[in-house]
Amino acid sequence: MIEINFESDVNVGRTREILGEILADPMGGWAMLPFLINEKELNKIKKAAADIQSKAEVLVCIGIGGSYLGHRAIIEALRPKGVQIVYAGNSLSKRELEFALSEVNNKDFAINVISKSGTTLEPAIAFDAFKKKLIEKYGETEAKKRIFATTDARKGTLHDEAVENGYARFVVPDDVGGRYSVLTAVGLLPLAAAGVDIDALVTGAREMAEGIIKNPMDIKKQDSATPVKSDEIIRKNPMVRYAWMRRALYERDYDTEVFASFEPATVYFNEWLKQLFGESEGKGKQGVWPASVVYSTDLHSLGQFMQDGRRNLWETIIDYPTDELNEKVVAAVCTAHTMGRIPVLKIGVSSYDEKGFGELIYFFEMACAISAKLMGVNPFDQPGVEAYKTELKKLMEEK
Ligand code: PA5
Repeated sequence: MIEINFESDVNVGRTREILGEILADPMGGWAMLPFLINEKELNKIKKAAADIQSKAEVLVCIGIGGSYLGHRAIIEALRPKGVQIVYAGNSLSKRELEFALSEVNNKDFAINVISKSGTTLEPAIAFDAFKKKLIEKYGETEAKKRIFATTDARKGTLHDEAVENGYARFVVPDDVGGRYSVLTAVGLLPLAAAGVDIDALVTGAREMAEGIIKNPMDIKKQDSATPVKSDEIIRKNPMVRYAWMRRALYERDYDTEVFASFEPATVYFNEWLKQLFGESEGKGKQGVWPASVVYSTDLHSLGQFMQDGRRNLWETIIDYPTDELNEKVVAAVCTAHTMGRIPVLKIGVSSYDEKGFGELIYFFEMACAISAKLMGVNPFDQPGVEAYKTELKKLMEEK
């Protein structure tokens, strides 16, 4: 269970409305996912993961944004003992692609190419390069058996290629957007291949979801009209309280949230958070700028600013269970930064394992969606991402 160290004024009626809007949204499918992932889907993923483990030392995960940050966050944090994961297709740097290609020079490998649209430039370029390498190494027929494609159920270049060539296919549901997709095959396949216990991850997320939403199975039985829990439960819920606290701080002109953790292995969890909040909230000239630090490392770089720089930011500490000395660092930072007039919010994580991360993922997804709605923006689109693509296309066509 996640515990927070602050109270906030919650407007329960507005929260209830927002929860209804999220659940009814064509892109709100992620909210019910922890209840809906079934044994059959999990088994299909586990079977593919076992297949990957049996024939590859390395799984090359090709994807960008929501198609890679979530699973990378958990894999880097837990360092599981399955296949090694090499990431590619998350930039347009040729140098970086060459580094990634060299990682599989002398290793058996397979590819999981992940793109909901199936048309994103970064993964498409990396996929071409790795596919070529795969064919050189194993020949066309075996190469096709080593490609696992996670994409739209019906359309897109990647979908069409996967169907034509008989790649193993996994679906990104229509009603789940990239940054909310960790608990679909987008995240679960690489996680299972890397050796993460995906059942425990889903259990953690389900327990968090149960704190606010009724299990759809129970709704049918009770024939209840509303899928959300009672007013009192909503008022006390930590995801709701956190969302309303963010809103209160934003209204008081705090425009930057610094996610702070004290575990270096959670750097990518911070990256996932920044994408989740940045892409969900930053639109219509609104939004809190999401930043991150890892302590005590960054106390020796950004610590000065945190203690005594411009007071436009608040700090959200993700307090993972840790060792005795590190706990003292958490306590010292809380006291020092509070003295430095920074609002310090603490989100206490129950366990540093799959279940704990499952809880955290759902916690932040729901809190982020509620926060964006409180700002009056759509949490599930990202129209601003198109601008650079248009400019890049123009430059590429100039050649
Ligand atoms: O959260 C999002 O929707 C984005 O970050 C996408 O995941 C990212 O742009 C990659 O898109 P796609 O999976 O279509 O390649």
